[in-house]
Amino acid sequence: MNPLTIGVLGSGKGSNCGAILEAIADGRLAETRVGAVISDVPDAGILALARQHKVPARHLPPGKFKTKLEPHCEEQLVALLQKHGVELVVLAGYMRLLKEPMLAAFPRRILNIHPSLLPKYPGLQAWKQALDAGERQAGCTVHLVDGGMDTGEILAQATVPVLAHDTPETLHARIQAAEHELYPQVVGWFASGRVR
Ligand code: GRF
Repeated sequence: MNPLTIGVLGSGKGSNCGAILEAIADGRLAETRVGAVISDVPDAGILALARQHKVPARHLPPGKFKTKLEPHCEEQLVALLQKHGVELVVLAGYMRLLKEPMLAAFPRRILNIHPSLLPKYPGLQAWKQALDAGERQAGCTVHLVDGGMDTGEILAQATVPVLAHDTPETLHARIQAAEHELYPQVVGWFASGRVR
């Protein structure tokens, strides 16, 4: 079987991308390769991480908008992913909404990970929203991407406890540790054909 080629998009430090690259390297995530890592932020940590792992790392300028790509930039993103043979797009801290060019090019083939138990707490700093609301449980969600913010079909969730003395930082760290387990697992479901 040919390995599944994934493309990772991120705007930040890239710890989830790192977890996926490590899972591939140590054999937990078999039959998967990272074809390219692409960022809208020129100096994002995720690009440096990709280079360390000898994966093609590309900065793709987003255009004039703050929360989405300019349509011609999104067309360039599609073309770049296709050039690298990407079959599954993995959003890992990518801070822009994707629209029709990407959704049409990769139907049910774009994943996102979000640091809450969706549908609760979409949007920014979801862990802080959960803490402020007095939740006793928090967690993370992997979902298919649609045109909305953190709204697509849910594929998997992992829960973590909210502890009595948690700060936003300690809770966020616990959620991220869960993300680093869950995301490689779900990518593995696609690689093995368990999710179609
Ligand atoms: C993660 O917490 C993810 O849930 C959210 O963005 C963050 C990205 O972190 N969508 P990293 O860049 O993977 O460290």
